[in-house]
Amino acid sequence: MKPLNPPFGSFSNKNIWIIGASSGIGEACAKHFSKNGANLILSARRLDALKALAASCASSSIGPSHIQVVAMDVDDSHSVKRAAELALTHWQKIDLLLFVSGVYEPMRADDFEFAKALKTLNTNLLGPMRVLGETLPKFIEQGEGHIAIVASVAGYSGLPKSLAYGPSKAALINFTESLYYDLHPKGVGVHLISPGFVATAATAINDFHMPALITPEVAANAIAHGLERGEFEIHFPKRFTYFLKLLRIMPYRIYFWALHRFVNT
Ligand SMILES: NC(=O)c1ccc[n+]([C@@H]2O[C@H](COP(=O)([O-])OP(=O)(O)OC[C@H]3O[C@@H](n4cnc5c(N)ncnc54)[C@H](OP(=O)(O)O)[C@@H]3O)[C@@H](O)[C@H]2O)c1
Repeated sequence: MKPLNPPFGSFSNKNIWIIGASSGIGEACAKHFSKNGANLILSARRLDALKALAASCASSSIGPSHIQVVAMDVDDSHSVKRAAELALTHWQKIDLLLFVSGVYEPMRADDFEFAKALKTLNTNLLGPMRVLGETLPKFIEQGEGHIAIVASVAGYSGLPKSLAYGPSKAALINFTESLYYDLHPKGVGVHLISPGFVATAATAINDFHMPALITPEVAANAIAHGLERGEFEIHFPKRFTYFLKLLRIMPYRIYFWALHRFVNT
Protein backbone atom coordinates (compact mmCIF):
# COMPACT_ATOMS: atom_id res chain seq x y z
CA MET A 1 0.00 0.00 0.00
CA LYS A 2 1.20 3.53 -0.81
CA PRO A 3 2.53 5.33 2.30
CA LEU A 4 0.56 8.36 3.57
CA ASN A 5 3.68 10.56 3.44
CA PRO A 6 6.51 10.98 0.96
CA PRO A 7 9.23 8.50 2.10
CA PHE A 8 12.03 10.38 3.87
CA GLY A 9 14.65 8.21 2.20
CA SER A 10 18.30 8.46 3.25
CA PHE A 11 19.32 10.63 6.23
CA SER A 12 22.62 11.54 4.62
CA ASN A 13 23.10 15.31 4.37
CA LYS A 14 19.54 16.02 5.55
CA ASN A 15 18.92 18.92 7.95
CA ILE A 16 17.25 17.56 11.08
CA TRP A 17 16.19 19.62 14.11
CA ILE A 18 15.50 17.54 17.21
CA ILE A 19 13.64 19.19 20.07
CA GLY A 20 14.13 17.18 23.26
CA ALA A 21 17.53 15.79 22.23
CA SER A 22 19.29 15.96 25.61
CA SER A 23 18.32 12.47 26.83
CA GLY A 24 16.33 9.29 26.22
CA ILE A 25 14.62 8.76 22.88
CA GLY A 26 15.71 12.14 21.47
CA GLU A 27 19.36 11.49 22.28
CA ALA A 28 19.19 8.02 20.67
CA CYS A 29 17.60 9.55 17.54
CA ALA A 30 20.38 12.16 17.34
CA LYS A 31 23.01 9.41 17.48
CA HIS A 32 21.18 7.36 14.87
CA PHE A 33 20.74 10.26 12.44
CA SER A 34 24.32 11.52 12.86
CA LYS A 35 25.70 8.02 12.25
CA ASN A 36 23.79 8.10 8.99
CA GLY A 37 25.28 11.42 7.91
CA ALA A 38 22.56 13.96 8.84
CA ASN A 39 23.21 17.59 9.81
CA LEU A 40 21.70 18.30 13.23
CA ILE A 41 20.33 21.06 15.38
CA LEU A 42 19.96 19.79 18.94
CA SER A 43 17.54 21.55 21.28
CA ALA A 44 16.32 21.14 24.87
CA ARG A 45 16.88 23.08 28.11
CA ARG A 46 20.00 21.29 29.43
CA LEU A 47 22.83 22.88 27.49
CA ASP A 48 25.61 20.75 29.03
CA ALA A 49 23.89 17.51 28.01
CA LEU A 50 23.35 18.84 24.48
CA LYS A 51 27.00 19.89 24.16
CA ALA A 52 28.18 16.47 25.35
CA LEU A 53 25.87 14.80 22.83
CA ALA A 54 27.08 17.09 20.03
CA ALA A 55 30.70 16.20 20.86
CA SER A 56 29.92 12.49 20.86
CA CYS A 57 28.05 12.67 17.52
CA ALA A 58 30.86 14.75 15.99
CA SER A 59 33.62 12.39 17.08
CA SER A 60 31.82 9.20 16.04
CA SER A 61 30.51 10.26 12.63
CA ILE A 62 29.90 13.68 11.12
CA GLY A 63 32.19 16.67 11.86
CA PRO A 64 31.38 19.42 14.38
CA SER A 65 30.42 21.88 11.62
CA HIS A 66 27.38 19.68 10.90
CA ILE A 67 25.96 19.99 14.43
CA GLN A 68 24.54 23.04 16.12
CA VAL A 69 23.30 23.27 19.70
CA VAL A 70 20.42 25.66 20.33
CA ALA A 71 19.02 25.78 23.87
CA MET A 72 15.25 26.05 24.01
CA ASP A 73 12.52 25.79 26.63
CA VAL A 74 9.32 24.90 24.78
CA ASP A 75 7.29 26.29 27.73
CA ASP A 76 8.67 29.78 27.06
CA SER A 77 7.56 31.75 23.99
CA HIS A 78 10.64 34.03 24.01
CA SER A 79 13.01 31.08 24.15
CA VAL A 80 11.14 29.35 21.30
CA LYS A 81 11.17 32.50 19.16
CA ARG A 82 14.90 33.01 19.67
CA ALA A 83 15.72 29.35 18.91
CA ALA A 84 13.54 29.34 15.79
CA GLU A 85 15.25 32.50 14.50
CA LEU A 86 18.67 30.87 15.00
CA ALA A 87 17.65 27.60 13.37
CA LEU A 88 15.90 29.20 10.41
CA THR A 89 18.84 31.56 9.81
CA HIS A 90 21.31 28.69 10.01
CA TRP A 91 19.55 26.53 7.43
CA GLN A 92 17.95 27.35 4.09
CA LYS A 93 15.76 24.29 4.45
CA ILE A 94 14.56 22.01 7.26
CA ASP A 95 14.13 18.42 6.14
CA LEU A 96 12.84 17.12 9.46
CA LEU A 97 11.57 18.80 12.61
CA LEU A 98 11.30 16.09 15.27
CA PHE A 99 9.47 16.84 18.53
CA VAL A 100 10.55 14.50 21.30
CA SER A 101 10.33 16.96 24.20
CA GLY A 102 7.90 15.95 26.90
CA VAL A 103 7.37 15.44 30.61
CA TYR A 104 5.84 12.45 32.34
CA GLU A 105 4.05 12.90 35.64
CA PRO A 106 2.09 9.84 36.74
CA MET A 107 -1.02 10.97 38.61
CA ARG A 108 -4.17 9.39 39.98
CA ALA A 109 -7.33 10.95 41.38
CA ASP A 110 -6.08 10.70 44.95
CA ASP A 111 -2.89 12.67 44.21
CA PHE A 112 -4.18 14.93 41.44
CA GLU A 113 -2.51 18.37 41.39
CA PHE A 114 -3.77 20.97 38.96
CA ALA A 115 -0.40 22.81 38.79
CA LYS A 116 1.35 19.61 37.67
CA ALA A 117 -1.40 18.88 35.14
CA LEU A 118 -1.06 22.40 33.73
CA LYS A 119 2.73 22.02 33.42
CA THR A 120 2.27 18.67 31.63
CA LEU A 121 -0.18 20.13 29.13
CA ASN A 122 2.01 23.18 28.64
CA THR A 123 5.13 21.18 27.74
CA ASN A 124 3.58 18.21 25.93
CA LEU A 125 0.84 19.94 23.94
CA LEU A 126 1.48 23.70 23.89
CA GLY A 127 5.26 23.19 23.46
CA PRO A 128 4.99 21.73 19.93
CA MET A 129 2.26 24.29 19.14
CA ARG A 130 4.56 27.17 20.21
CA VAL A 131 7.41 25.90 18.02
CA LEU A 132 5.11 25.33 15.06
CA GLY A 133 3.75 28.85 15.51
CA GLU A 134 7.25 30.03 14.58
CA THR A 135 8.14 27.39 11.97
CA LEU A 136 4.99 26.44 10.00
CA PRO A 137 5.31 29.38 7.55
CA LYS A 138 8.80 28.07 6.68
CA PHE A 139 7.46 24.56 5.92
CA ILE A 140 4.58 25.93 3.85
CA GLU A 141 6.99 28.16 1.92
CA GLN A 142 9.35 25.18 1.34
CA GLY A 143 6.49 23.00 0.09
CA GLU A 144 8.45 20.00 1.37
CA GLY A 145 10.05 18.59 4.52
CA HIS A 146 8.71 16.53 7.40
CA ILE A 147 7.29 17.24 10.87
CA ALA A 148 7.30 14.30 13.29
CA ILE A 149 5.69 14.45 16.72
CA VAL A 150 6.29 11.96 19.53
CA ALA A 151 2.99 11.39 21.33
CA SER A 152 2.37 8.10 23.17
CA VAL A 153 0.12 5.07 23.29
CA ALA A 154 -1.07 6.66 26.57
CA GLY A 155 -3.00 9.05 24.35
CA TYR A 156 -5.06 6.24 22.72
CA SER A 157 -7.50 5.97 25.64
CA GLY A 158 -7.71 6.48 29.41
CA LEU A 159 -5.17 4.52 31.46
CA PRO A 160 -4.30 4.22 35.16
CA LYS A 161 -1.97 6.93 36.58
CA SER A 162 -2.50 8.99 33.47
CA LEU A 163 -4.75 11.86 34.57
CA ALA A 164 -2.51 14.58 33.07
CA TYR A 165 -0.06 12.77 30.78
CA GLY A 166 -2.82 10.83 28.94
CA PRO A 167 -4.94 13.87 28.01
CA SER A 168 -1.81 15.80 26.92
CA LYS A 169 -0.87 13.01 24.52
CA ALA A 170 -4.46 12.39 23.35
CA ALA A 171 -4.71 16.06 22.37
CA LEU A 172 -1.30 15.85 20.69
CA ILE A 173 -2.50 12.90 18.59
CA ASN A 174 -5.55 14.89 17.52
CA PHE A 175 -3.37 17.92 16.73
CA THR A 176 -0.99 15.82 14.61
CA GLU A 177 -3.88 14.25 12.68
CA SER A 178 -5.28 17.71 11.92
CA LEU A 179 -1.83 18.91 10.90
CA TYR A 180 -1.51 16.02 8.45
CA TYR A 181 -4.82 16.93 6.86
CA ASP A 182 -3.68 20.51 6.24
CA LEU A 183 -0.03 19.95 5.31
CA HIS A 184 -0.23 16.84 3.14
CA PRO A 185 -1.71 18.75 0.15
CA LYS A 186 1.11 21.29 0.55
CA GLY A 187 3.82 18.62 0.14
CA VAL A 188 4.87 18.54 3.82
CA GLY A 189 5.01 15.13 5.53
CA VAL A 190 3.52 14.76 9.01
CA HIS A 191 4.27 11.76 11.23
CA LEU A 192 2.68 10.67 14.50
CA ILE A 193 5.05 8.65 16.68
CA SER A 194 3.41 6.41 19.30
CA PRO A 195 5.92 4.61 21.52
CA GLY A 196 4.99 1.99 24.10
CA PHE A 197 7.28 1.71 27.15
CA VAL A 198 10.89 2.82 26.57
CA ALA A 199 13.55 2.53 29.30
CA THR A 200 14.57 6.17 29.91
CA ALA A 201 14.92 8.53 32.87
CA ALA A 202 11.23 9.38 32.44
CA THR A 203 9.98 5.82 32.98
CA ALA A 204 12.61 4.92 35.61
CA ILE A 205 10.18 6.37 38.19
CA ASN A 206 7.50 3.76 37.38
CA ASP A 207 6.86 1.36 40.24
CA PHE A 208 5.03 -1.20 38.11
CA HIS A 209 5.99 -3.81 35.54
CA MET A 210 6.25 -2.19 32.08
CA PRO A 211 5.22 -4.71 29.44
CA ALA A 212 7.24 -4.96 26.21
CA LEU A 213 9.84 -2.47 27.49
CA ILE A 214 12.39 -1.50 24.82
CA THR A 215 15.63 0.52 24.79
CA PRO A 216 15.89 4.08 23.39
CA GLU A 217 18.09 2.69 20.61
CA VAL A 218 15.37 0.26 19.50
CA ALA A 219 12.90 3.17 19.61
CA ALA A 220 15.22 5.35 17.49
CA ASN A 221 15.58 2.55 14.92
CA ALA A 222 11.80 2.17 14.69
CA ILE A 223 11.37 5.94 14.27
CA ALA A 224 14.04 6.11 11.56
CA HIS A 225 12.54 3.11 9.74
CA GLY A 226 9.02 4.58 9.84
CA LEU A 227 10.24 7.95 8.53
CA GLU A 228 12.22 6.32 5.75
CA ARG A 229 9.08 4.50 4.62
CA GLY A 230 6.79 7.55 4.88
CA GLU A 231 4.46 6.05 7.51
CA PHE A 232 1.93 8.39 9.13
CA GLU A 233 1.75 6.57 12.45
CA ILE A 234 5.02 5.06 13.60
CA HIS A 235 4.05 2.87 16.55
CA PHE A 236 6.20 0.37 18.42
CA PRO A 237 6.73 -2.21 19.76
CA LYS A 238 3.92 -3.72 17.70
CA ARG A 239 3.23 -6.59 20.16
CA PHE A 240 2.13 -3.95 22.69
CA THR A 241 0.67 -1.20 20.47
CA TYR A 242 -1.68 -3.58 18.57
CA PHE A 243 -3.01 -4.86 21.90
CA LEU A 244 -3.82 -1.28 23.00
CA LYS A 245 -5.31 -0.43 19.58
CA LEU A 246 -7.62 -3.43 19.92
CA LEU A 247 -8.52 -2.47 23.48
CA ARG A 248 -9.56 1.06 22.53
CA ILE A 249 -12.18 -0.12 20.04
CA MET A 250 -13.84 -2.42 22.59
CA PRO A 251 -17.12 -1.45 24.31
CA TYR A 252 -16.34 0.33 27.60
CA ARG A 253 -17.61 -2.61 29.66
CA ILE A 254 -14.93 -4.85 28.09
CA TYR A 255 -12.33 -2.06 27.94
CA PHE A 256 -12.47 -1.31 31.69
CA TRP A 257 -12.58 -5.01 32.56
CA ALA A 258 -9.47 -5.67 30.42
CA LEU A 259 -7.64 -2.67 31.91
CA HIS A 260 -8.33 -3.98 35.38
CA ARG A 261 -7.27 -7.49 34.36
CA PHE A 262 -4.13 -6.73 32.30
CA VAL A 263 -2.93 -3.15 32.86
CA ASN A 264 -3.92 -2.46 36.47
CA THR A 265 -0.97 -0.91 38.31
N1 LIG B 1 9.87 6.54 27.70
C1 LIG B 1 8.68 6.08 27.34
O1 LIG B 1 8.25 4.98 27.72
C2 LIG B 1 7.79 6.90 26.45
C3 LIG B 1 6.64 6.30 25.93
C4 LIG B 1 5.80 7.03 25.12
C5 LIG B 1 6.14 8.33 24.80
N2 LIG B 1 7.27 8.90 25.32
C6 LIG B 1 7.55 10.29 24.96
O2 LIG B 1 8.85 10.34 24.40
C7 LIG B 1 9.38 11.64 24.61
C8 LIG B 1 10.79 11.51 25.17
O3 LIG B 1 10.71 10.92 26.44
P1 LIG B 1 11.90 10.07 27.09
O4 LIG B 1 11.29 8.85 27.64
O5 LIG B 1 13.04 9.99 26.15
O6 LIG B 1 12.23 11.00 28.36
P2 LIG B 1 13.44 11.94 28.75
O7 LIG B 1 14.73 11.21 28.68
O8 LIG B 1 13.03 12.55 30.04
O9 LIG B 1 13.45 13.04 27.59
C9 LIG B 1 12.60 14.14 27.58
C10 LIG B 1 13.22 15.20 26.71
O10 LIG B 1 12.32 16.32 26.66
C11 LIG B 1 13.07 17.50 26.95
N3 LIG B 1 12.20 18.50 27.56
C12 LIG B 1 11.40 18.36 28.64
N4 LIG B 1 10.82 19.53 28.94
C13 LIG B 1 11.26 20.43 28.01
C14 LIG B 1 11.04 21.81 27.79
N5 LIG B 1 10.22 22.53 28.59
N6 LIG B 1 11.65 22.42 26.74
C15 LIG B 1 12.48 21.71 25.93
N7 LIG B 1 12.75 20.39 26.09
C16 LIG B 1 12.15 19.77 27.13
C17 LIG B 1 14.16 17.04 27.90
O11 LIG B 1 15.26 17.92 27.86
P3 LIG B 1 15.65 19.00 28.98
O12 LIG B 1 15.28 18.45 30.32
O13 LIG B 1 17.12 19.18 28.78
O14 LIG B 1 14.89 20.23 28.61
C18 LIG B 1 14.55 15.71 27.25
O15 LIG B 1 15.46 15.92 26.20
C19 LIG B 1 8.41 12.36 25.53
O16 LIG B 1 7.57 13.20 24.76
C20 LIG B 1 7.62 11.23 26.14
O17 LIG B 1 6.33 11.65 26.54
C21 LIG B 1 8.11 8.22 26.13
